Amino acid sequence: MANQVAILLYLCWGIAQCPVGGAGRAFTRDGRETVERWVQQPDTSSPPASACQVSIVNRLDCYPDSLTDEGKCAARNCCWSPVEGALRYRGIPWCFFPSSAGSGYSVTSRSQTPLGFSAVLQRSVPSHWPRDVMKLKLDVTYEAESRVHFKIYDPAVKRYEVPIDTPRVTSPTSHMDYAVTVTPSPFSIRVTRTASDTVLFDSSSTPLIFADQLLQIGTSLPTDSIYGLGEHRQPFMINASQPSRLAFWSRDQPPATNLNLYGDHAFFLGIEASGDAYGVFLLNSNAKEVALGNTDGLGLTYITIGGILDFYIFTGPSPDDVIQQYSRVIGHTFMPPYWSLGFHLCRWGYGSSAGLKKVVKRMRAANMPYDAQWTDIDYMDKHLDWTYDKTKYSTLPDVVADLHAHGQHYVIIVDPGISSTQPNGSYPPYDEGLRDGVFIMREDRTGPLIGKVWPGETAYPDFTNPQTPVWWERMAKSFHDVLPFDGLWTDMNEPSNFVFGSMNGCPPNNTYNTPPYTPGIASGKLPDRTVCPSANQYLSRHYNLHSMYGHFEGIATNRALVSIRQNRSLVISRSTFPGSGRYMGHWTGDNSADWDNLYYSIPAILSFNMFGIPLVGADICGFSGTTTEELCTRWMQLGAFYPFMRNHNAIGSKDQDPAVFGPSAQDSMRTALTTRYTLLPYLYTLFYHSHLTGSMVARPLFFEFPQDTNTYPIDKQFMWGNGLLISPVLEKGKTSVSAYFPRANWYELDSGNLVEGSGSSITLDAPLSKINVHVKGGLVIAFQKPEVTTTLSRLNLFGLLVALNESGSASGDLFWDDGDTVDTIETGQYNFIDFSVAQGKLTSSVVKAGYSSPAMSLGSVVVYGVQSQPVKVTVNSRSMPFQYDTANKALRVTGLSEDLLKPLRVSWSAG
Ligand code: NOJ
Repeated sequence: MANQVAILLYLCWGIAQCPVGGAGRAFTRDGRETVERWVQQPDTSSPPASACQVSIVNRLDCYPDSLTDEGKCAARNCCWSPVEGALRYRGIPWCFFPSSAGSGYSVTSRSQTPLGFSAVLQRSVPSHWPRDVMKLKLDVTYEAESRVHFKIYDPAVKRYEVPIDTPRVTSPTSHMDYAVTVTPSPFSIRVTRTASDTVLFDSSSTPLIFADQLLQIGTSLPTDSIYGLGEHRQPFMINASQPSRLAFWSRDQPPATNLNLYGDHAFFLGIEASGDAYGVFLLNSNAKEVALGNTDGLGLTYITIGGILDFYIFTGPSPDDVIQQYSRVIGHTFMPPYWSLGFHLCRWGYGSSAGLKKVVKRMRAANMPYDAQWTDIDYMDKHLDWTYDKTKYSTLPDVVADLHAHGQHYVIIVDPGISSTQPNGSYPPYDEGLRDGVFIMREDRTGPLIGKVWPGETAYPDFTNPQTPVWWERMAKSFHDVLPFDGLWTDMNEPSNFVFGSMNGCPPNNTYNTPPYTPGIASGKLPDRTVCPSANQYLSRHYNLHSMYGHFEGIATNRALVSIRQNRSLVISRSTFPGSGRYMGHWTGDNSADWDNLYYSIPAILSFNMFGIPLVGADICGFSGTTTEELCTRWMQLGAFYPFMRNHNAIGSKDQDPAVFGPSAQDSMRTALTTRYTLLPYLYTLFYHSHLTGSMVARPLFFEFPQDTNTYPIDKQFMWGNGLLISPVLEKGKTSVSAYFPRANWYELDSGNLVEGSGSSITLDAPLSKINVHVKGGLVIAFQKPEVTTTLSRLNLFGLLVALNESGSASGDLFWDDGDTVDTIETGQYNFIDFSVAQGKLTSSVVKAGYSSPAMSLGSVVVYGVQSQPVKVTVNSRSMPFQYDTANKALRVTGLSEDLLKPLRVSWSAG
């Protein structure tokens, strides 16, 4: 037995083919399993009534595959207890597994460690789940003042653990603002915020289960206002007192309520009534589910079917602190190229390079700010990656050259599925991929798993194999020599499959394809719309790595782009995982052209900012269905405030680029675009902060006003940083919008008209030509005169918008570099300027001057909230002419040409 364990450990570390779990299973050196595989259902007899007394959050669904009835439930020897109004995926399972035997684990020993403590946990009565791990280890690490990390795992056999880089802490923290206590029998763990004695995590009300393919742990919640747990279509605030279940298993799934979507983010932030916030992150990539409800007090239960229980708790206390603490664990976002913050235009089905050219031309004729043109799979030859259709898209290289000549950029789609049916020797991506062994292998390792996507039968690159990024970059490079793209759009990377598991289905009676318990995912079957979980990848089974497919593809794609272009890369991925924001942005997938989808884009954008992927946007004007001029206008207005702004739609739908609409819609869209382009220096500076600290770019109101409980559910308005409040119209036919204004001075962006926020909603005019945007008093925002591309706008004069708070002061900053070079921050090739305003005087301090060409010149200063007409304005000691708008109390100084890399002094003296 000792030998067998040694072999298992060797295999886990050596070729990283860890078994899903436990003792009793062994592998030969070439990775074949030496014991019979089996699927064990929990029990064969009807459960006793007492075993059916299971609280709502602890019910494990016995019928994940379809709606059921009492008879079908009894046939599976499960408990039947209907809960009116709660159906599969929507609340509480009616048919659930009987409660686990025994009450979990007891602590048998405990020891201090240099960074915290450890305990051994022992189960005496087996649960009824196959392959219980009877003895567990708990490691608690006090990683930082506001971050505790605990892991529960099998100390005897190395199980699969999520392969992302997390901080390796080596020295103990000197001070912690939390306390961790363990109750020995039955075992439970509790984390308390010491300052307030608030219990942030307490697992005592849910039996701990740790079987090979069923791990369950629960926690109480100190609040019912939680956020996160993606990727799902839901309002931003999740009301944790409402019974619901959220499943996690990446899926090619157009957004719909209660279904698992493209990515997996098992992180949530809770805001307590005091305004303090905390966060919980379960680092686990297996299929899982989270149950919420409040039958026995507010609670949340995690059920995962593999890996280990690996938790991080963040104590905040501000919401922004929580996100920064979380980002430190998963990694900060990449610095996007400046051009990627401009407007992107795409559609599936331009049909030909002539069709594409026509759209580019009309966008230019309409003078629409527009930085990047994309093409979807129809540019490809027979949908084959790294090819283009030389008939329909014969002049595509010319179109790309023309885009580049106009200072624009070009982005192409690339899908992971590589056609496996091209004539031998004719398609290097497959031929060389096969030669280099880069594809996901079938269960029996006799060859690549073959599924079906757009080009027909396809193999799937295994991006966890170190050979794969090398091959991928080679393919990308040789295509880039032909068609010099600037960014890559990684679609279909859940990974998507048009057939169930593979062309031959999946091996039946296999514990990875039909595990003892399947979380409440759409269809109830793991292989549905993807590859067989039993397939083999370099690092582990697909069963473990499935939801990280897009993540690993994104890492390889980012690396390829940087190496090919020697510049910052733009990768926009459909599937994401914690840590993906270090390499890529995200768009929210196949929405539809309707008003509901317009609204749901805001919770999605806010959630992804929380998940450390701030470069995120939804398909503007809607992907499927037919948009209308009104909807598309409203969507362009809202989309102008997505951190990533792209208009895209499906094949067969009508064109919806801004230039296709009538003159007044075009005017409204152009205004929205020029507002965005004007504000890009501010947006870019927010990305710099996000890159450095993890703080969010798009934020919910409660991040800035955590004491104001009215802000907690608001998701029809949002902010850029801490300064801009965006209040879009989200309903058809409306020309006004009800907007909430927390206590502060707010100034209308264009006019400076003051709204004195009093913690209530007011109705704002919102004709179709306008989106309401307000600047919070206390802020200095840098802006730049807009142009039709960022290449041009970056050459223009800067401006400063000062919004004074009640005491007449304000502050802000500006980050600037060439917008394209990799690692400018690390190499010091950037500028950073701080601005502060008090008593009628704006001063700057140049914190860093490491980038000087072209010069940064200040052309104008606008000050909102100047109470009386100034008598004199001086700029760097020179008296300057100015305009004062008495109605809006706005001061404007134009015609300047001040070097921003020198200290600036602007003062205005009261009359
Ligand atoms: C699915 C993507 O979500 C969509 O954006 C794209 O247009 C189609 N695939 C075709 O490539």
